[in-house]
Amino acid sequence: MKAIFPGSFDPITNGHLDLANRILRFADKLVIAVLLNSSKQSLFTIEERIDLIGQATNHLHNVEIKCFSGLLVDFAKQEQAQIIIRGVRNYIDLEYELLMTRVNSQLAPEIETVFLYAKQEHLHISSSAVREMVVLGADISTMVPGCVKSAIISKTKDQ
Ligand code: PNS
Repeated sequence: MKAIFPGSFDPITNGHLDLANRILRFADKLVIAVLLNSSKQSLFTIEERIDLIGQATNHLHNVEIKCFSGLLVDFAKQEQAQIIIRGVRNYIDLEYELLMTRVNSQLAPEIETVFLYAKQEHLHISSSAVREMVVLGADISTMVPGCVKSAIISKTKDQ
């Protein structure tokens, strides 16, 4: 079974990484799909985000990192993936995810969406919290892989 794990990944966090590990317990192949969204202001460029995901997942087998634009279900079909995986931390996530799932399943009923509940220790982690914490000088060591910590510190220093 091939799974798509889509997101903005600006940047990838330990929460995302844990999900990637857990997906590989039941999927044979995993495509981490980074949304190319020119209208959304991002900290890292698409190339930087892909590079950081590559570094953070280089110990994992059967993982590909790709970018996509347009509809997620079209990308999933193009990749011949059967499932889309999304992480859920709380009811706010769930509400948004249910809406996306409804739209995606209307568009492509053959593709299933699977939710994975985040581990307790990752419930407070989000890419936006990581970006904000760095700017405010907080330690993000427990929230992101080492390669991301170095990259985000040097990036925010330049700004
Ligand atoms: O990490 P994010 O920002 O929560 O990821 C959101 C993402 C990329 C999964 C979502 O925005 C998406 O699938 N965008 C592609 C456009 C699409 O297919 N929209 C229809 C579903 S509402």
